[in-house]
Amino acid sequence: MTSALHTQFLQKYGASDEPVRTFFAPGRVNLIGDHTDYNGGLVFPCAIDQGNTMLIRATHDNTFKLASTNFDLIAVLSKDQTHQKYGDQWINYPLGVMQQFTNDGINLQGFECLYSGNVPNAAGLSSSASIEVVTAFALNALFNLDYDLLSLVKLSQRAENEFVGVQCGIMDQFAVAMGRADHAMKLDCETLDCEQVPLPAGDHDIVLVNTNQRRELSESHYNQRVRETREALAMLKEALGDEDEHYTQLCEVSVSQLETHKAIFDQHPVIYQRARHVTSEHQRVFDAVAALRANDMHAFGQLMYQSHASLRDDYAVSSKPLDSLVTIAMSIEGVLGARLTGAGFGGCTVNLVHRSATEHFKAATAARYQDDTGLSADFYVIRPSPGVREINE
Ligand code: GLA
Repeated sequence: MTSALHTQFLQKYGASDEPVRTFFAPGRVNLIGDHTDYNGGLVFPCAIDQGNTMLIRATHDNTFKLASTNFDLIAVLSKDQTHQKYGDQWINYPLGVMQQFTNDGINLQGFECLYSGNVPNAAGLSSSASIEVVTAFALNALFNLDYDLLSLVKLSQRAENEFVGVQCGIMDQFAVAMGRADHAMKLDCETLDCEQVPLPAGDHDIVLVNTNQRRELSESHYNQRVRETREALAMLKEALGDEDEHYTQLCEVSVSQLETHKAIFDQHPVIYQRARHVTSEHQRVFDAVAALRANDMHAFGQLMYQSHASLRDDYAVSSKPLDSLVTIAMSIEGVLGARLTGAGFGGCTVNLVHRSATEHFKAATAARYQDDTGLSADFYVIRPSPGVREINE
């Protein structure tokens, strides 16, 4: 596949003495723990086998040429033009990364690059984090910038926060960079402690089902949820005064502590619900990883269902198509758990399915989902995969 891309690269940019280097970053799926990362909580994602390949070559001039096999466009930008947003194109992800290097005082030299991705867009599988991380990793390697991987993760998150304008947490960029084959990561988003947990091979499949629902206003709704949870934390801090001043993140508050202080939210029931989702979801990740370690896949699946209900009812980030897929999954024998994954508002569900039931699950879901919503679903059986890397052929 990469040799065909190499040919396309040369067709676009011509030959030169400089080597063309090839990098790859995966997408990710979050198995459980959504909307906890920006509240300092636990998440449990893994990198997937689909992702973005990036071919890049230094040009030693001050122009930046960016193209993708997925879209008909080559952006040819001078240094000044790299500081402005490029419409609402995918190019903003690499531009955001370049701006962060510039902010760090690095004077990037010219390059030409070609991206090719097979992560479905806007499906909650972090195609954008994948582009950011592959770009940061490639520029770091090409220009010997000497960043370690965690610094590239943080830089990519800042690109999304500051240039793209989504106040996301660190989960996506971290998972895309740090993935390991056949493992998922229990990541504490406050301390960045990360445990790679082996996923039991053999009996189960992780099946993603894409609603193919058009996501609308997801960025503004996402940022609104970030604000609501900050408000919940501020209200708790103010009401508790000195007593519990050590709270710096909502995920430090336990489910029972929140319940004890419920009266604080009497006039703000929605803020209370948001906080209840975040604190309970953090606990569910903890419980789910413990269940996995005890090889109790049934318990893991039940926690996935509970997570979906909480995201739907308390966090209000689900949608009719997502709910339809989860309801269908619950009724199919051999499915242990299902939930929306990622930010929500459309995108994919993640399903834990007995391998012997996977084909039936796909066929039955496809038909019933179409009847229910008029949409047709796509299915991907994924394998937890390694994170960002250079590909040497
Ligand atoms: C998006 C964000 C992540 C995370 C998830 C929800 O994917 O980029 O930081 O908040 O939503 O868990």
